Amino acid sequence: MDLLIQTIKEEGIVLSDSVLKVDSFLNHQINPRLMYEIGKEFSNRFKEDRITKILTIESSGIAPSVMTGLQLDVPVIFARKKKSLTLVNDLLTAKVYSFTKQESNDISVSNKYLNEKDRVLIIDDFLANGQAAIGLAEIVKQANAEIAGIGIVIEKGFQNGGQLLREQGLRVESLARIHSLDNGEVSFIKDGTKEAVR
Ligand code: G4P
Repeated sequence: MDLLIQTIKEEGIVLSDSVLKVDSFLNHQINPRLMYEIGKEFSNRFKEDRITKILTIESSGIAPSVMTGLQLDVPVIFARKKKSLTLVNDLLTAKVYSFTKQESNDISVSNKYLNEKDRVLIIDDFLANGQAAIGLAEIVKQANAEIAGIGIVIEKGFQNGGQLLREQGLRVESLARIHSLDNGEVSFIKDGTKEAVR
């Protein structure tokens, strides 16, 4: 997706060989116009898939998910990372291990909003080691719902999440795929080729 790649080139900050900071449009400040275009792109890619719900995880997955939900005209559910005062009963839960933070967290969704009739599109902002997406997929399975696919805004192709999910037969659609962040430069995977941009 050209607008996203352009924005990463202009505003992304390479923090290390493995971390890209995109606080100016996705992780802290949010660019609504870009989110709207991201929603249109996901919606185009999944419009034939009879999606009934979008499932994401708080917090940075919410903006692109809501824009996609608007386009596909379906509700958006976000998994909570912390226990909620009002969300206590009938929970679907999964453990998500973060390699980055080296800790495990339970994520949860009320079973009121997902059931066996649902075809779910999972959306998240980053795909690194894939643990968040795997946890969300686990929640969909617990609800006996179907996973239609996974939409990712930025996939780090040099980490193994994409491979893990695709090996499970899941359809993963990433709008920007990063080949490497080595030497402070972002290079993208584009149609099987690598384009160094910085
Ligand atoms: P995984 O789910 O793919 O296994 O990811 P991991 O545990 O490694 O990542 C933990 C958090 O860090 C997630 O956000 C993930 O989106 C984010 N993350 C991973 N790699 C990058 C990166 O290169 N750049 C940025 N900006 N974020 C990255 P989170 O803690 O759940 O945060 P949020 O959704 O509340 O913002």
